[in-house]
Amino acid sequence: MASPDRKIAVYPGTFDPITNGHVDILERSLALFDQVVVAIATNPRKQPLFTLEERSEFIADAVGRDPRVVCDAFDGLLVEYCHARKAGFIVRGLRAIADFEYEFQFAHMNRRLNSRVDTVFFMTDERHHYVSSSLIKEVASLGGDIGGLVPPAVARALLAKYSAPAEAKGDPK
Ligand code: COA
Repeated sequence: MASPDRKIAVYPGTFDPITNGHVDILERSLALFDQVVVAIATNPRKQPLFTLEERSEFIADAVGRDPRVVCDAFDGLLVEYCHARKAGFIVRGLRAIADFEYEFQFAHMNRRLNSRVDTVFFMTDERHHYVSSSLIKEVASLGGDIGGLVPPAVARALLAKYSAPAEAKGDPK
């Protein structure tokens, strides 16, 4: 799969938006891999707040435009995307106990689909183990403080989204 002298990993997710929990996992994965492809899923089960371009820009900005981080969009099977990217590894973060069962299934199914792609887990930093993108959006939409939980550019964008008048956001009255 990945060439022996170049280790490539795919870090998949919806990243709507990226949080400091994701940034922590991404930065730590760069200690292991030469390139990490952040694969933004076009998940039909989720209605994203931010466009793919916005999400990609937040990610690149959050890692200081590190050339080892590539942002891309994907749909279809994750293992097929890994194969196309010549990536031998999937990066996932494990938060609380609740993540384990889902991640266990996810990793096993992916290995069944392609045994040459393995999953590497990072324990989420204790400061972020309760954070999710949905929770961030909910708190921001209700005017709560999300400082320190998302990169500054994301915090500004959330503030702008939720403080804009309803017509500007395209919401029905
Ligand atoms: N810090 C903070 N938040 C985190 C986190 C961390 N370290 N890790 C996960 N989260 C959050 C995410 O923001 C997400 O929040 P949300 O549900 O509010 O959006 C939530 O935890 C769940 O994350 P995750 O499990 O990564 O879901 P996702 O929707 O972001 O991504 C895919 C899921 C895209 C990776 C998965 O559905 C996929 O691979 N799909 C492709 C199709 C496929 O191959 N299916 C077969 C798989 S076996």
